[in-house]
Amino acid sequence: LYYHTSLPRHKSAQPAVDPSSLKASFRERLDNERSKALLGGGQKRIDKQHTRGSLTARERIELLFDPGTFHELDQLKAHRCVDFGMDGESKQFPGDGIVTGHGLVNGKVVYAFSQDFTVLGGSLSETHAEKMVKVMEMAQRVGAPVIGLNDSGGARIQEGVMSLGGYADVFQANVDASGVIPQISVIMGPCAGGAVYSPAMTDFIFMVEQTSYMFVTGPEVVKTVTDEVITKEDLGGTGVHTSKSGVAHDKFPNDVAALRAMRRLLAFLPSSNDKTTLPYKPTDDPADRPVPAVARLVPDDPNTPYDMKDVIKEIVDDGEIFEIQPDMAKNIVTAFARMEGHTVGVIANNPISLAGCLDISASTKAARFVRFCDAFNIPLVTFVDVPGFLPGSNQEFGGIIRHGAKLLFAYSEANVPKVTVITRKAYGGAYDVMSSKHLRGDANYAWPGAELAVMGAKGAVEILYGGSGADIEAKSAEYADQFANPMECARRGFIDDVIEPEDTRKMLCNDLRVLRTKKMPDIIRKHSNIPL
Ligand code: HXC
Repeated sequence: LYYHTSLPRHKSAQPAVDPSSLKASFRERLDNERSKALLGGGQKRIDKQHTRGSLTARERIELLFDPGTFHELDQLKAHRCVDFGMDGESKQFPGDGIVTGHGLVNGKVVYAFSQDFTVLGGSLSETHAEKMVKVMEMAQRVGAPVIGLNDSGGARIQEGVMSLGGYADVFQANVDASGVIPQISVIMGPCAGGAVYSPAMTDFIFMVEQTSYMFVTGPEVVKTVTDEVITKEDLGGTGVHTSKSGVAHDKFPNDVAALRAMRRLLAFLPSSNDKTTLPYKPTDDPADRPVPAVARLVPDDPNTPYDMKDVIKEIVDDGEIFEIQPDMAKNIVTAFARMEGHTVGVIANNPISLAGCLDISASTKAARFVRFCDAFNIPLVTFVDVPGFLPGSNQEFGGIIRHGAKLLFAYSEANVPKVTVITRKAYGGAYDVMSSKHLRGDANYAWPGAELAVMGAKGAVEILYGGSGADIEAKSAEYADQFANPMECARRGFIDDVIEPEDTRKMLCNDLRVLRTKKMPDIIRKHSNIPL
């Protein structure tokens, strides 16, 4: 008002209103708006959130970022809806149910949004979506990860198609950022509709036990449409998504544990797909440290199970791994770890479950992990102990051909450094799939006891000669002598060497060091067509 006044500006002219009082009243208004923004949906709803065992959107942000580093954006941005009573005083919420901004996590820039369930159930309006898209675009511009703390009932029903449009804008932003910056979603409350589809397009989804749910439609809608009666937990709780559907990548007992885990995960990840942002954490764990325990951990008998995670922890820096999907397809391990301070992606068959064979779930789990690592320049370290693909009608009807092909495709396509160790056996197609030399593995090794063949000696001889008897025994022994060891592969150069188990860390560190400058020519095409 003051600056646009048309009063003549000669010395004696007095402004209609005292500018200092105008400024004071604006400041008061600003303070009021800010306090309102900080209070979200009000104390009563905050208390309800706490009673559920959940933190508020702002408390979560505080825990995620290094203390005092968070800069909020759009704190005063307000919705523009006037329908269904939304123009009433009680429906005005500065910030519109979402806290957005950037700060430091482990000293590195990270962008975040945190949905506020106390404001209209964290539902997404047109303006709420604009705030989300803004942080995603800014994060891409500066090359920093985005982490979304999701707690939302989905599209804001009062805004109708405006909120649907908002979601579509968010989805597009998710896709634009995919493979450019890491995108992480933490589901921290009941999330429905678009509130689950945006996370589904990000790289990783984590959940909180007992308080977070994910479904396209909640139990009430399910009952109305299909007559099925089901609880929130059984429809979309952590148990469902971390071990059955594979939608989520892990679960944590509460908000605090989940947010601490995110800080740990972010320490493994580059800020963007620009190679210069690859993380490095100095280590005093020597690269040439022998790992004598691994030989004892792996039984000689190819049929005796063992936990491959124990082997991995012996070999990587400080025994530290961050596992992705630990409760899904336990027959394969996918985890971030470090070698000589540099992040690697570890993929390993785990004989403790289903003898470590490849099935539909293991193939899709590992394929997605391989593709994440490749997109963000993270080298792949593969440990192989695999009896083959799981046979049977269940797998065939489920499309093991299509899903197994995903892993084969992902490994073949990956042009990051690929180092592989066969600890005990690599049979059949799974030998090819698990980052073999033929898929441009950069360094491939086998331990002396490893068996590499089309199938086990007994099965092979039964197919070749049928029946049983003394001759079969002799032929089995002959087959085993030829293939149940790594010699044939070493002679053909399918492995670079047979190495002593205790030298594994030393060999891998050395290869990864050499491979840091690996370059592969780009293939000119729009994009490949991985079997989905
Ligand atoms: C507006 C909403 C809302 C929504 C919840 N609220 N969801 N307001 N739009 N989508 C409000 C409630 O009215 C309530 O307001 C407050 O948030 C808390 O909700 P409650 O139901 O009391 O909480 P709870 O019992 O914990 O249940 C949470 C819930 C449930 C499971 C999320 O609210 C629910 O089912 N909501 C609707 C989910 C949904 O169908 N969304 C639309 C999806 S369609 P008061 O004032 O009473 O506190 C969609 C399309 C996207 O998203 C496109 C995808 C491709």
